[in-house]
Amino acid sequence: MNDTGTARPAFMSNGVVWRLRIALVAIVAALFLAIAVQEPALAQQPVDNDPAATSPVQGQVPGNTLGTDSDTEMWRAVRQGVAGQVSIPDKNAATLVQSEGELWRSIRNGPLALYASWAMLAMVVMLSLFFAIRGRIRIEHGRSDKTITRFAAFERFGHWLLASSFIILALTGLNVMYGRYVLLPVIGPEAFGSLTIFGKYLHNYLAFAFMAGLVIIFVMWVSHNLPHKTDIKWVLQGGGIFSRKLHPPAKKFNAGQKVIFWLTILGGLSISLSGWTLLFPYTTHFFSGTFELVNTVFGTALPTPLSPLQEQQLASLWHAIMSVFLICVIIAHIYIGTIGMEGAFDAMGSGEVDLNWAKEHHSIWVDEVMAREAEHKGSAKIQPAE
Ligand code: HEM
Repeated sequence: MNDTGTARPAFMSNGVVWRLRIALVAIVAALFLAIAVQEPALAQQPVDNDPAATSPVQGQVPGNTLGTDSDTEMWRAVRQGVAGQVSIPDKNAATLVQSEGELWRSIRNGPLALYASWAMLAMVVMLSLFFAIRGRIRIEHGRSDKTITRFAAFERFGHWLLASSFIILALTGLNVMYGRYVLLPVIGPEAFGSLTIFGKYLHNYLAFAFMAGLVIIFVMWVSHNLPHKTDIKWVLQGGGIFSRKLHPPAKKFNAGQKVIFWLTILGGLSISLSGWTLLFPYTTHFFSGTFELVNTVFGTALPTPLSPLQEQQLASLWHAIMSVFLICVIIAHIYIGTIGMEGAFDAMGSGEVDLNWAKEHHSIWVDEVMAREAEHKGSAKIQPAE
């Protein structure tokens, strides 16, 4: 019996029931959001009897204009992307209809928006279930009366520069993709318009803070994130996350963290390069270059060279795909750095972690620090906890 007098199976302690409740709320909230953003994808389904919707597919003139024969020829040429002549500096304006733009738009607002929302939902559901079943990973031996310095102030600065800019970039980017379906109906067109334009400026300028953060953490931590034989044992023991007793030894970063590090660096680089193309349109040829390289190495037949517009469209799609991928990774990272593991946040909060936490999760690193401390006695890094 529980405190409300209802019967409950023996394994359902109060803690488990609360975790189940929290997990359920998180899953339901994420499900609502995911359903709300399905609209763009559904809006992309062609309607058979709507000529405007089917014209791009059948190569008809937009709006189903019939015209005379010569008009038809002319519009067909326009529709197929034949460029005219303009006297203004922007020569791209000579192309009135750019068919690849239709394809780009239907992919972006269709499958991309759809699968991206499901991927983020799946991550929230998995973490909620993990939390419900495993609960918070506690410090097995309880808190000690000592702490050890895990990250120096500059390391924490680099991390928070990267993290805070990434979170704002993610929120403002998601607003561009889904805002009109999620926020607009709630806050109305005027507030949504102001918020979105403000968000767009933030997105443009914070991109540079993100890139700076990326460079800083790469330089600071790359040597700690190279593969090491201890990683094999850590992986074979599943990082000890499924068992309360198991604490595989690890250096400063364990194998799981190394994966997060490299995904952040490589994913962040890819997002930065594609974002650069979007910030400074028609100045880069990243996709032509990459496709050429892939064709040479793998003997594939990817299209090259690409037009400047195709470069922009591919950059836009790739930017969104990589961003959502990294958002999913970082949702898991934020979970483990906050509610998922007792004592973890201190590492990036004050920089001082509990000695028992450090021994349980990074035993080899603790030994290394202690050996160094013994060598340079005096600059004591292990301190009594406050
Ligand atoms: C509220 C948001 C965040 C929190 C609470 C958080 C927390 C933490 C903590 C506690 C650590 C140190 C773990 C340890 O002591 O071993 C860490 C490391 C790290 N963080 Fe974050 N973080 C956040 C956001 C981000 C974001 C947005 C990124 C990247 C875009 C990021 C990238 C990293 C990387 C690469 C590491 C080193 C590898 C690792 O420990 O996984 N973090 N974070």
